[in-house]
Amino acid sequence: MNINQAFAILKNAGGIRAARIITEKHKHMSWIRVMYYAFLLKRGMPVAKIIHSKWFYGLEFYTNKNTLDPRPDTETLVEAVIKDAIENKPRKILDMGTGTGCIICALCKNIANSTGVAIDKSKSALRVAKKNIKRFNLEKQIKIAHGNFDNFKSKEKFDIIVSNPPYIKYGDKRVNDAARFDPKMALYAKNNGLFAYEQIAKNAKNLIKQNGKIYLEIGIGQSNPVIKIFNFYGWKFDRIEQDLSGINRVLIFNL
Ligand SMILES: C[S@@+](CC[C@H](N)C(=O)[O-])C[C@H]1O[C@@H](n2cnc3c(N)ncnc32)[C@H](O)[C@@H]1O
Repeated sequence: MNINQAFAILKNAGGIRAARIITEKHKHMSWIRVMYYAFLLKRGMPVAKIIHSKWFYGLEFYTNKNTLDPRPDTETLVEAVIKDAIENKPRKILDMGTGTGCIICALCKNIANSTGVAIDKSKSALRVAKKNIKRFNLEKQIKIAHGNFDNFKSKEKFDIIVSNPPYIKYGDKRVNDAARFDPKMALYAKNNGLFAYEQIAKNAKNLIKQNGKIYLEIGIGQSNPVIKIFNFYGWKFDRIEQDLSGINRVLIFNL
């Protein structure tokens, strides 16, 4: 099928933006493939899940049904860490709940002399992270480990801990329709969406170096409850960062 015919079918199924992204990625598609993509678009599947690709912080990540597609909001977290890491000191970074590995890869690409450990409870997400780490030639810098927020242990301590944990409360109606294609484990948390923060606040104390900092992405309206949780576990509030829409998006603490 020629590219113009494919474009017209995809545009009809999912709009001009989706058609453009798919035809840019796949210049030659069989009729069957175009029809299949059109079917997925009509079901509301995000383009990133169809073409297995999402750009984040200038890097093109592989993504699939086992990982959350990297979101622009999360670039605020990456920015906050990079802003603090301007001196050329070696940095050890721990990414808790790495998914595609987008945060740790963006950080290790942009902070000189940094090394990382990326953990996730989902083994299939870790396979995706591994693929991306290889794609960006970061195998020597980033190690992955199967681990849980509340019981991951490590002999080495970290200068920086980052996490974009699941923070949506079960039943929240504001969730974007496309999110139904993301794994539930990546999105939802018990205790009004706060459970992962409780687990991390408790365990990350054993993983951070003296003078280290933890950077957390939060959902809309979660800054006060998350500050309370971290204060309860002995963390000191450092600052808050807003995303491009002016929403409080990243909380930073030290011990
Ligand atoms: C919101 S996604 C973030 C993914 C990626 N870091 C990003 O920012 O796009 C949360 C990730 O945490 C993982 N996760 C959920 N519960 C976990 C737990 N208890 N321990 C470790 N990882 C967990 C999920 O599998 C998912 O990959």
